[in-house]
Order: sequence, then structure tokens, then C-alpha cells
Amino acid sequence: MENNRDVIIACDFKNEAEVMNFLDKFEGVEKPFVKIGMELFYGAGPDIVRKIKARGHKIFLDLKLHDIPNTVKKAMAVLSSLDVDICNLHAAGTKEMMTAALEGLTRPDGTRPLLIAVTQLTSTSEERMQKELLINETIENTVIKYAQNAKEAGLDGVVCSPLEAELVKKNCGKEFLTVTPGIRFADGEVGDQVRITTPKRAKEIGSDYIVVGRPITASEDPVAAYRRCVEEFCK
Ligand code: C5P
Repeated sequence: MENNRDVIIACDFKNEAEVMNFLDKFEGVEKPFVKIGMELFYGAGPDIVRKIKARGHKIFLDLKLHDIPNTVKKAMAVLSSLDVDICNLHAAGTKEMMTAALEGLTRPDGTRPLLIAVTQLTSTSEERMQKELLINETIENTVIKYAQNAKEAGLDGVVCSPLEAELVKKNCGKEFLTVTPGIRFADGEVGDQVRITTPKRAKEIGSDYIVVGRPITASEDPVAAYRRCVEEFCK
């Protein structure tokens, strides 16, 4: 596959003023791909997506849908009309839900945003998954199985830890996209992330997109930090 690697900035801001202030720093110099999560979307409403899109950014709308197939299908049709580039859902909703989501996302002209699945959240430990969710398996096996289900349902890829990307590629093929958060510079702050890797290492492992938040958003020079990620990961 041609190199489509890209850096996605996690815009984890609580309101429109903060996110626009951040994006202003990039005006006229770069047009980064951005991730909008639940906090900003629920706080600012769908208009925030239209406004950021109108500034020329690609958007990964990270709302992680999980409901009955019919509800997810209808919700995805709404998100698709916002002209986002990537949407996601929980693979735990089953293949039926994922197929319905794809149907909902597909626009009348046949185009649609990419659809990726969350396998097991990286915050879920193997112990909790086994004891609370009664999934008597290793995390690794559930990640592989959920990724395979997503592939069989026709999805484009998964969100996963960079340390799982290699495993997903091995089991689902090189073309199946891996979108990986948990990225830190070798000389940077780790914060609350546990299983982390550098942009350079994520490239070697085979991630297609890295999602980077605080190493860019909390940097004194976000544009320079973004460019450093691009330099390490995309070139
Ligand atoms: O600031 P930081 O680089 O840690 O941000 C990572 C982004 O990726 C956040 O928006 C976080 O919610 C998201 N994410 C994650 N780990 C996952 C799934 C999503 O860090 N397993």
C-alpha cells in the first residue's frame, strides 16, 4: 500500500474558543488532521465539526458508538452528513451492528467516511475483562478476534495500542488500518499513558495513523511539535 500515514491531533479541548485558539496557531502554515472526541462534541454540538471542516481540516470523530444495530445505523447517517473523514464504534456491538453502521454511513453517492472499531479499550485490564465481563480469554486474543470481526463486517481498521498494531496487521492483513494513540516523544512527558511508543517506533511497527494529544497540544510550540511527529512518522 502507498504510504498514507498521517498524524492526527487529539483536540481534547472543552469548548469552541479553546479549540479554535489552538487551531489558529496552524493557520497559514499547516492543516493537520484532527480528532474530535466526546467532550468537545457533546459540549459544543455538531456545529463544531462543520466549523473545523470549513477551515479545511480532515476530521476523525471519535464517538465510539455502541447500541442496537438500527440505532447505530441511523446515528451514523447523521455523522456521515457532517462530512467527517473517520468515524468509530465498539467492535463489542457485534458484526451485525458494524454492518448496519456501514450502511448508515454510506452516502447516496456511494462515498463514506472510513469506519474503524475500538477492540478492547486500553484502560481495560485483562483481570477486569475476565472477572467483570466474564470474557475468559487473554486481551491479545480478544483484540485479534474483535479486529477480525471488524474486518469481516467490512470495516476499514481498528483503533489499538501501538503495541498491538503488529498483531492486528499479522491477523487482518497489511491493508487493514491501525490507528494508534499512546504516542510520546522519546524525551517527552509520559503523563497518564502506560503503554506508549514514539512516532518513529509506531512507523516501524506499521501504524497507519498516530493519534497525538498532549505532546502537541500542551507543547510551548504546537506547530513545531506537530512537525516533529510528521518528520518521525510520515517521512
Ligand atoms: O494526550 P494524549 O496523547 O494521551 O491523547 C491521546 C488521545 O487518544 C486521547 O484523546 C485519548 O482519549 C485517546 N485514546 C487513548 N487510548 C485509547 C483510545 C483513545 O489515549 N485506547
